[in-house]
Amino acid sequence: MITTSSSTEKEDITTKEKELPDKITQEQSLPKEGGVDRALRPQSFDDYIGQKKMKKNLRIFIEAAKKRDEAIDHVIFYGPAGLGKTTIANIIAKEMGVAIKTTSGPAIERIGDLGSILTNLQDGDILFIDEIHRLNKSVEEILYPAMEDHKLDIVVGKGPSAHTLQLDLPQFTLVGATTKLGALSNPLRDRFGAIHRLEFYEQNDITEILKRSAVLLDCSLEDDGAQELSRASRQTPRVANRLLKRARDFADVHNRGSIDSAVAREALALLDIDDLGLEPTDRRIIETLIDKFNGGPVGLHTLAMATSEEMQTIEDVYEPYLVQLGLLLRSPRGRIATDLAYEHLGRPKNSPAKKLFL
Ligand code: ADE
Repeated sequence: MITTSSSTEKEDITTKEKELPDKITQEQSLPKEGGVDRALRPQSFDDYIGQKKMKKNLRIFIEAAKKRDEAIDHVIFYGPAGLGKTTIANIIAKEMGVAIKTTSGPAIERIGDLGSILTNLQDGDILFIDEIHRLNKSVEEILYPAMEDHKLDIVVGKGPSAHTLQLDLPQFTLVGATTKLGALSNPLRDRFGAIHRLEFYEQNDITEILKRSAVLLDCSLEDDGAQELSRASRQTPRVANRLLKRARDFADVHNRGSIDSAVAREALALLDIDDLGLEPTDRRIIETLIDKFNGGPVGLHTLAMATSEEMQTIEDVYEPYLVQLGLLLRSPRGRIATDLAYEHLGRPKNSPAKKLFL
C-alpha cells in the first residue's frame, strides 16, 4: 500500500533511491577484523563459548519465535568492544535460518540510505546496525515507524510538489549493537523487545576460546600457554585471538614448536603487554593520572589532551577494561586512579605529583 501526503520538511530520497551503497554488505563485514578473525567466529550457539545467561535467554527467544513462525522481536546488544556483538547477530540469523544485512550507524548518513536498505529487505531478514548510537537524529526517526509498524515514510520531491509516500516494509528484525546504551534516545531504546548486556568473559572461557581458535588455526597451544595468553587478553575474545596469532608468529619465527607459557610470555613482552593485559596506552593513561594530576579526579577532555589520545578512544577502547580491573574510577568530577593503579605501577600513594609539563 502506498499513501501520499504533502510535506516539505523531510529529505528528498529520490536521487539516492535504490543506490545500495558500499556502506552495506550482504553478509557480516565490518572493517575491524580480517578474514582470519571471521573464520574464528563461532557459527552457532553450540560453538559459542561464554555469556551463558545471554545464550540461554536467546535460545528461548529464538525457539519461541520459530514455534510461532514469526520474526523475532527487535533486539539490542550492548557492552564493550570485542565481546562478540556482531558474532551473536550472525548466530541469531543462522539459527533463525534467515539472511542478515550488516551496516553501522555512521555509515547511514542520509534518510535515503536507510530507505534503500529497508526496502531491500525480505520478510524475516535481520538488519544488523553496529554502533547504532551513532545514527543521526533524522535517520533514527525514520526507524521508529519502521520498527513499530513496518512502515516507511519518505518524502519525494521538493518545495510545493513534495509529498510523503508511506511504504509497507517486510517483517524484518532490527538487531542493534552499541558500546553506549546510555547514548541511545529513549524512543529508540524503548522499541527494542529485548536488551542484552555482554559481559567481560571469564578467564576459563577465554582459555577455551583460545584452544578452539588454535585448532582452527592449526597451531599447537599448550595448557599453560593458553592460560598465559588468557590472562593478558583483557577478558575479550577479539584480543585473545589477536594475541594467539602474534604468539604463533613468535613461535614460528623462533622455531619454538608449540606455544607454551615461556613462548607466550616472551611474545607478550615483545608486544609490551604486561601481566594484567595492559598495553602501553593503558599504562600511559593511569601514569598520566598519577604523575600529572596526583591521581585525579580529572576530566576526560584534559586526560585526552595530556595523553594525546582521542576522548572517544579513551572512553571506548581503554577505560572499560581499566574500570573492570579496578584501576580507574569514573566519578562525576572526573577520572581517578585507584590505589590498585598506584600498586600496579609501583608508585607510592600520596607522593607529590611529578612536575611534568603537558
Ligand atoms: N571466537 C570469538 N568469540 C568466541 C566465542 N565466544 N566462542 C568461541 N569462539 C569465539
